[in-house]
Amino acid sequence: MYYPDDIVEEVREKNNIVDVISGYVRLQKKGNTYFGLCPFHNEKTPSFSVTPSKGMYYCFGCGAGGNVFTFLMNYENATFVEAVKTLADRAGIKLPEVEVTEEMKKAAGEKATLLEINKEAAKYFYYALRSDHGKVGLKYLQDRKLTEETMKNWGLGYSDKYSNDLVKYLESKGYSDEMIVKSGLASRDEAHGTHDKFWNRVMFPIQDLNHRVIGFGGRVMGEGEPKYLNSPETPIFEKRRNLFGLNFARSSKKGHIILCEGYMDVISMHQAGFNEAVASLGTAFTPEQAVILKRFTDTVILSYDSDGAGTKAALRAIEILRNMDMTARVLDLKPYKDPDEFIKNLGAEAFEERIKNAKNSFAFEIEILRRDYNLDDPDEKTKFHREIAKKLCGIQDEVARNNYLESVCREYGIASDVMRKTVVEYASKTGLAKPAIRPKSSMHEKMPPDEGVKKAQRILITWISDEPAVYSKIKEYIDPSDFTEELYSRVAKEVIDGIADGGLNPASLVSKFDSEEEQKEVASLFNTKITGLDGQPLEMSTIQEKERALRDIVIKIKENSNEYYKNKSADMTALSKVLEGKKKLEKLRKTTISLE
Ligand code: GTP
Ligand code: MN
Repeated sequence: MYYPDDIVEEVREKNNIVDVISGYVRLQKKGNTYFGLCPFHNEKTPSFSVTPSKGMYYCFGCGAGGNVFTFLMNYENATFVEAVKTLADRAGIKLPEVEVTEEMKKAAGEKATLLEINKEAAKYFYYALRSDHGKVGLKYLQDRKLTEETMKNWGLGYSDKYSNDLVKYLESKGYSDEMIVKSGLASRDEAHGTHDKFWNRVMFPIQDLNHRVIGFGGRVMGEGEPKYLNSPETPIFEKRRNLFGLNFARSSKKGHIILCEGYMDVISMHQAGFNEAVASLGTAFTPEQAVILKRFTDTVILSYDSDGAGTKAALRAIEILRNMDMTARVLDLKPYKDPDEFIKNLGAEAFEERIKNAKNSFAFEIEILRRDYNLDDPDEKTKFHREIAKKLCGIQDEVARNNYLESVCREYGIASDVMRKTVVEYASKTGLAKPAIRPKSSMHEKMPPDEGVKKAQRILITWISDEPAVYSKIKEYIDPSDFTEELYSRVAKEVIDGIADGGLNPASLVSKFDSEEEQKEVASLFNTKITGLDGQPLEMSTIQEKERALRDIVIKIKENSNEYYKNKSADMTALSKVLEGKKKLEKLRKTTISLE
């Protein structure tokens, strides 16, 4: 880490977590905790909690959790150092100037190195485009009507014809072959050694929300296969979670986002003044991307190709957006294939007009449906109308359902009172407005066998950190080594030490763990719902019920730790631990733990 621990601590303490997160998520107070809709997954009822006394947030739905730093890192896709800087600024704390040494760089971790490598590569491609052998690339982009300014804004570049010049350049900057390969910019094989992935292509840097280059798309100039080559998934390049152009579109004031398929489309839209355009990264639109878009807008205008594949992709995107309670509308660019071609041929004003006339998603779906029926045939026509009724039934909001009904009837010349009756009939047969079926969250998948023990360990850590007095009742039985998960044991030690010297501080503990995965797990350890082993919540229980539950939990943890050390019994300390543990277990089974 670049900054001394005490400065990091000061920054954390001066940034009230509720204030910081309120800047991004609407929170409502319930007792000592604040709740809101989780910004990290798709949900309709709040399971995202912020607990000021712990300095932490935690989502009971998806398990996202941590302190103010982790929040910014995840929400803004920032590194730890960036999060510290932002929050220091916010609190008016001046950070010391730190000279960054090679050592520090290494310690800052793999992600930071991968970001640097991508940045270096972007610079390399950028200058190559403006050099002598980059002329072909420049000409290609000029022919596609991109201005000098546009090329500069998007950092467009060129990867030349040599097969390992980028690799050599990166090596000269001190990056290891291993990291260069890991960045996805090169691959390694027996025959060729380490060689560039991109070769004789115009290069589109892909940036995250904070304008950091995380990967590239490279296009052949003219015909050739594959037309676009993209960076592979890397620790910093997750195609599921990023959108091309969103770093600019996020500050657009248009009130909607245009979602399309191509990098070139996004760039030419921005060039024509439509700075609200984004594209997915050569893959289908994902629910994760929808969660991110929802931070900026409720309305997404889709611009997909009008062919079979494009239509299918649009229908799928509509479904994803609808599940997020977002409005989707669909652009019609006929007779052109995509926004780039449309704007080149008909100009920005005509494009603006098409945006205004974008179809609502329901009308679009019906239009697609209509293609399957021959409306000159009365039977088919009836079937078509029944299908419309069925679709209307799926709309839960009554006002919206009625408006869609009116408009679809107008469009297809159907008597709206007849349609209303059909809808009611269909609804009474099937049950109207069934809740939409949502993908099951991975949280509820089957528990692996040792999950029960882990859960008991988690409950106990949350319990004693919420009510330190409880620890005094069980400390004769339990110590950190009884938490057999390595990470749990580290946390338990910190908690128990913290209780002993009165300085328990969950939020500062989070920053002692380096990876996001670990930080998430630490957060979960402080936010486990306190229940018995049977899963019954204990907040309304009698004191006797709580005592019994606590005893069961302690016994379970102790039995497990005994088993664990028995298997390690070659080691003398483990052996004596087992003998001692046995005695404690016998005692526990005979006594009750008093919480009075
Ligand atoms: P131009 O032909 O340059 O105007 O590109 P386009 O954006 O119109 O191309 P298209 O609609 O064919 O592709 C849309 C997006 O799909 C591109 O921006 C790429 O992200 C992705 N894509 C297209 N072709 C390929 C390919 O051959 N391989 C991969 N991996 N992705 C591709
Ligand atoms: Mn195109």
